[in-house]
Amino acid sequence: MKSIPSISLYGIIGATLVYAAVALAGEPKPLNVPGADWHAKAERWFTSKDEKERKAQMKEASRALKRPCKNCHTEDFEGFIDEDRKVLTQQMMSISFDSGLQCKDCHDGKEKMTELGETAEKMYDLSREKGVYCDECHQTNQSKFKDLSEKGKKFKDEMEAKKKAAGGAAPATTPASAPASTP
Ligand code: HEC
Ligand code: HEC
Ligand code: HEC
Repeated sequence: MKSIPSISLYGIIGATLVYAAVALAGEPKPLNVPGADWHAKAERWFTSKDEKERKAQMKEASRALKRPCKNCHTEDFEGFIDEDRKVLTQQMMSISFDSGLQCKDCHDGKEKMTELGETAEKMYDLSREKGVYCDECHQTNQSKFKDLSEKGKKFKDEMEAKKKAAGGAAPATTPASAPASTP
């Protein structure tokens, strides 16, 4: 229903990315957002302080990724095998909490992403390029990324305008709801 206009919107967003090809090659790097406390943000994802429940949540996450605990944690669980991987996963926990999504809503095993996950990949590249977290454009109200912030609405309008200028003027079934913004 909404997929045709949104694919071309994401196509336009993708076309604006300068570094996407680089970012997609190899292990993704964590977002570089100055001043963010990812441990504190990740902590919100855990529903309990109880060790057992935390393990159970982590087991579910591991299942979505089809990765063992040691893909991230050291043998004795005292540390992490890789700092970047730790931070990236903390960011993922934060994203999950803020959006109300679960790991498996985007991840389907080691490499495979769900359809939503593929959209999120473009968004991830966009966020990396801008040096921002998702909350730059999305409300952190667990609406599964449906609710945009004021900046997000403005960005969407700009992309819709680019889409039109690029000749992709197929009538959108989802008209831009926000009033046209002045750049
Ligand atoms: C993809 C990476 C990854 C995998 C796989 C993973 N973890 Fe984690 N785990 C993390 C990160 C990141 C944190 C949060 C670190 C922080 O900010 O405190 C964490 C936190 C935890 C915590 C809470 C620690 C605390 O301070 O209370 C437990 C318990 C845990 N993991 C157990 C497991 C177990 C058991 C498995 C396997 C079933 C597992 N993890 C798999 C990355 C991972
Ligand atoms: C909204 C979608 C979304 C959700 C929810 C999500 N992820 Fe991700 N995840 C991504 C995207 C996008 C990437 C980057 C993929 C890329 O660039 O290749 C990624 C990458 C990763 C990576 C690094 C690549 C890899 O497979 O080793 C890990 C680890 C990861 N996510 C763990 C998690 C965990 C754990 C959760 C749940 C706490 C989670 N993700 C929830 C979208 C999501
Ligand atoms: C510069 C602005 C911007 C940033 C930053 C951004 N997004 Fe988006 N995102 C958008 C816009 C615009 C849409 C399209 C929304 C629409 O069509 O109503 C969107 C759509 C999405 C969707 C699709 C929602 C759906 O139901 O189809 C997902 C998932 C998403 N974003 C995830 C993320 C994640 C994860 C991050 C952070 C890593 C992020 N976004 C950062 C602007 C942004």
